[in-house]
Amino acid sequence: MTPIRFATLAGVTALLITRPVGSAEPAVTLTIDVAHPGHAVSSVLHGVFFEAINYGADGGLYAELVQNRSFEHAEHLYAWGTVNRGGDGDVTIETAGPLNAKNPHYARLTVRDPGRGFGLGNYGFGGIAVKSGENYLFSVRARTDAAYQGALIAVLEDESGRPLGECRLAGLGSAWAQLDGTIKCGATATSARLVVLATAAGRVDLDVVSLFPEHTFKNRRNGVRADLAQMLADLHPAFMRFPGGCIVEGRDLPNRYQWKDTIGDIAGRSENWNRWQDAVRGTAPQYYQTYGLGFFEFFQLCEDLGAEPLPILNCGMACQYQSKQLVPLDQLDPYVQDALDLIEFANGPAASGWGAQRAAMGHPEPFHLKYLGVGNEQWGEDYFARYKIFQAAIKAKHPDMQLVTPAGPGVDDGFWKLAWDKFRSGTPADIVDEHYYRPPQWFLENATRYDAQDRAGPKVFAGEFAAHDRDRRNTLRAALAEAAFMTGLVRNSDLVAMSSYAPLFAKAGAWQWAPDLIWFDNTRVYGTPSYYVQQLFSRNRGDVVLPVDLAGAEVPATPAGRVGLGTLQTAAEFKDVRVTRGGQTLLSSDFANGAPEWSGAGHRWTVRDGAYQQTDPGTPASVFAGDASWSDYTLSLKARKLGGAEGFWIIVRQNGPENYIVWNLGGMRNTSHILQFHLGQQDQFISQVPGRIDAGRWYDVKIELKGAKLDCYLDGKLVQSAKVSPLQVQCLYASAVRDEKAGEIILKVIN
Ligand code: AHR
Repeated sequence: MTPIRFATLAGVTALLITRPVGSAEPAVTLTIDVAHPGHAVSSVLHGVFFEAINYGADGGLYAELVQNRSFEHAEHLYAWGTVNRGGDGDVTIETAGPLNAKNPHYARLTVRDPGRGFGLGNYGFGGIAVKSGENYLFSVRARTDAAYQGALIAVLEDESGRPLGECRLAGLGSAWAQLDGTIKCGATATSARLVVLATAAGRVDLDVVSLFPEHTFKNRRNGVRADLAQMLADLHPAFMRFPGGCIVEGRDLPNRYQWKDTIGDIAGRSENWNRWQDAVRGTAPQYYQTYGLGFFEFFQLCEDLGAEPLPILNCGMACQYQSKQLVPLDQLDPYVQDALDLIEFANGPAASGWGAQRAAMGHPEPFHLKYLGVGNEQWGEDYFARYKIFQAAIKAKHPDMQLVTPAGPGVDDGFWKLAWDKFRSGTPADIVDEHYYRPPQWFLENATRYDAQDRAGPKVFAGEFAAHDRDRRNTLRAALAEAAFMTGLVRNSDLVAMSSYAPLFAKAGAWQWAPDLIWFDNTRVYGTPSYYVQQLFSRNRGDVVLPVDLAGAEVPATPAGRVGLGTLQTAAEFKDVRVTRGGQTLLSSDFANGAPEWSGAGHRWTVRDGAYQQTDPGTPASVFAGDASWSDYTLSLKARKLGGAEGFWIIVRQNGPENYIVWNLGGMRNTSHILQFHLGQQDQFISQVPGRIDAGRWYDVKIELKGAKLDCYLDGKLVQSAKVSPLQVQCLYASAVRDEKAGEIILKVIN
């Protein structure tokens, strides 16, 4: 995977890549046409996608060490505990006379006897990691009643309660005031806590209790973790997309990301719960967004990284998988205004309304925003109705702003087709955001995906992608498949303007989604193989794409694979399953003695009365039999729906755990028969006809495979027919670019 750099040669360079001695396979000849004028590589081809998922922001990149610093989590004392050193008092959560309306809750210490200190301790995000000799910046908003005549002490303590350093804050009064101090840490600890103690009897109110390492990336106040940000810097990202992802949409509209809540004094930023908080593998039920890492900090980080900022805004739609809430078209104005105001915040003069807010935060110069996303992963007519309004308003004032427009949650499905049909028939778009989370095989098969795409339409943003290998682990195989695919992005970078792997960060022990590019905990960070693929491409981008010919690299693709039976939202049973080829019987299952030839991961199938049953409509399940090399066969069987919403699945050409063709009888809530590819988490329709499956009656099903052709029969009648050629994979992928300044050709080869 190391790029081979060639000095520029006139004419044609050929490289013979040989197989190991004794290998029967032929050699591959790689030819680069170095004299070709080529086309420019998009200058923003490789970037990063940031989202507050997997504790990527709070507890991650954002360097704040205190969790729930403003007591605004639903459980207001989450991550806090009372500390009583031989005294007497109470800790309560109050709302009367708050710091401000956006920060309505605070903690009250009612101290009757301070003993050796009475107060609160914060455990950070699974402990606070501190280093010997480093300074930590403590701050708090506090007020007291007249009776209180003491100071506040902030102490860092290790796991055993040993003090590591402290600071003493005086000057408390009856009005809310910010107090700051520095704690010099005397020893290293990975799981320390911050203790804030009152030293006298009386009442003390506390809010926005904060602790930062003095050393952050570029030593910015309210900054980001230096080690995590350095991983980003080492990627040389050409752009950074933020703040997501699904958090832009929110589960419902009140939960959506609103950039105006994320700027200004951190004490005035409205916290919001994180829509990823109870996702499948969440370990912490109180996952919140403080918005301490807000839009100003994102813009500043982009500047520090030398990356173009690419903010994505809510377009008046909440998550279409969840609440599906929509802002009526006649109430969309505030959302559109948010977009216009954001442009002013980023680019307006310091004297303009929003530009002044940027200047007040310490950045009078503009951030030079050029790209703006309207909606995250939206789809359908509801989206396009809203997009049109945003597009017209933004372009009217800022004709040069490049808008990023989603094509739905996946590619090659109905939503994606609708989006591209719109773009090709008059809906204006600059850059179309496509997402693919697919198995490694898909990435190999799709390395040529953009080779033949019409250049007349909008540009493409491969906005979220990752190869999802078995158990969604980060594997070398996944990284190599991504690299193979990326050779296609580079080759087509006259069309594909931008690309980013997703998600970016994940915290070990506190994540919701895998695979991810970079993993970390409170003290460590490491890049996955996929990280190094991104880095290799990004740091060796080059300027001009050169044609590469890889003679002998294509792996002959046969339309072959095993057979299968499946259910989705139904209970069903199957019997008399036969696979024949010519006069030969390849498989015959009468289920008289169980089903030893059938298997499926975690399946709950049982044999009963000579039929193979899956009786739980709530469990999608598939089972498979046969050999991956089978081709040109006829599958016949009887199937009966027992109950549930749909019909049943008959599967052929299964040649990977999640890679097969399904005849989905009674799909789409029992309205259609659909022939579809199943690849990883996503299905791609091949053809669809109206149809339903009635419960309680046996159907005769037959699928004939002749080469790439499939003929599908129900009760002896041909219902669907299609030619589905297997996609081509190669044993070797390559990309060549010319680096004009260095006078070199950079060759990337993936096998
Ligand atoms: O990257 C994780 C999620 O995948 C993003 O939030 C969303 O846009 C997509 O569905």
